[in-house]
Amino acid sequence: KKVVLAFSGGLDTTVCVKLLQEKYNMEVITACVDVGQPEDEIRRPAEVANKIGVKKHYTIDAKHEFAEEFIFRGIKANAEYEGYPLSTSLARPLIAMKIVQLAEKENAYAIAHGCTGKGNDQFRFETTIRSSSLCEIIAPVRDLSLTRTEELDYAKTHDIPLYSDKLYSIDENLWGRSIEGDVLEDPMVETPEEAFEWTVSTDEAPDEAQIIKISFEKGVPVALDDVEMGAYKIISESNRIAGLHGIGRIDIIEDRIIGLKSRENYETPGAVLILTAHKALEQLTLTREELKFANTITQTYSEIVYNGLWHEPLREDLDCIIDNMQKRVTGNVKLRLHKGSIKTLSRESPYSLYSEEAVTFEDKETDQREIAGMVKNYGLQAACYQKVCKKD
Ligand code: ARG
Ligand code: SIN
Repeated sequence: KKVVLAFSGGLDTTVCVKLLQEKYNMEVITACVDVGQPEDEIRRPAEVANKIGVKKHYTIDAKHEFAEEFIFRGIKANAEYEGYPLSTSLARPLIAMKIVQLAEKENAYAIAHGCTGKGNDQFRFETTIRSSSLCEIIAPVRDLSLTRTEELDYAKTHDIPLYSDKLYSIDENLWGRSIEGDVLEDPMVETPEEAFEWTVSTDEAPDEAQIIKISFEKGVPVALDDVEMGAYKIISESNRIAGLHGIGRIDIIEDRIIGLKSRENYETPGAVLILTAHKALEQLTLTREELKFANTITQTYSEIVYNGLWHEPLREDLDCIIDNMQKRVTGNVKLRLHKGSIKTLSRESPYSLYSEEAVTFEDKETDQREIAGMVKNYGLQAACYQKVCKKD
């Protein structure tokens, strides 16, 4: 029986190959979906697959689709969960869809993934697979309740090549890099510098600040410093530039789907840069009512995506509202990047709702006295409450 395994060449999925062959007696086809992770991480799975005797390995290029159809939605929604821009959870549904398509093509009996029974990714992979395929799902690490040390021992006794002596669990895609596990499991441990790859420390960041202009059209970035770029390019350039200034390191205690608190480190330089600019432009172009509602949308949207429910219709419904609102989020934002910090310097938009003539204290047109009545009645309910309840 054939099984298609979502394969990264890391410890979990490499151990899975051997387990699927030996314990499950299956013919393993591995597939690495390119969602914009660094090139090494695309090349390595192919090499590892070859080394451990996998007969068929696929590399599936989905990076442009990921940028245009997933990250761009994340930007328009300002998707973030407990303080970090959603990255892993945005990519999982796409990876799973590509694996499902391959499983169909290969006429596979099952689809396998390397997730543990403790994390979020098992939910994200399986909801997508179940919503579009009748294949069996096999999760060997979870099935056998393996610890990472047990996996490491198994790898050593089965000639599985290992690329790092660290037991970090890392996930990377175009929108971010997440690092967890090993020493980071102790929240008292400060994240060692070697855990980071996309960003420099603030100490190493250049002394000189960089000013960058980001142009948006309908809620998505289209140019950096007036150079027009496609989705993939503009995001990778944003990662490079912001990473150079040490922007986008996030260290949080996060609430996982199953209720565990976990310590997570993220590197999301491009996401922090683009989302900061995007929010600045929204402040200029959306009304107070829209902004308030957009916050609620962000919250719900992010929970849906984080929880692996990409295929939930409410996500699509929210995308419709978001797209309509984002029609006016067009314009330019200038930001200053310096030693891990990011500051909005200026913003402009043809849809700006900001009226300098109306707001200026120098204005003679408006009759200020007209506002007096509005002010007088503004706290009416509060005044009533004080009178009724705080009499003595
Ligand atoms: N906790 C993060 C999230 O759920 C990252 C998960 C990363 N996955 C991994 N296999 N290391 O979004
Ligand atoms: C895993 O448990 O397999 C990785 C972490 C996660 O899914 O959150």
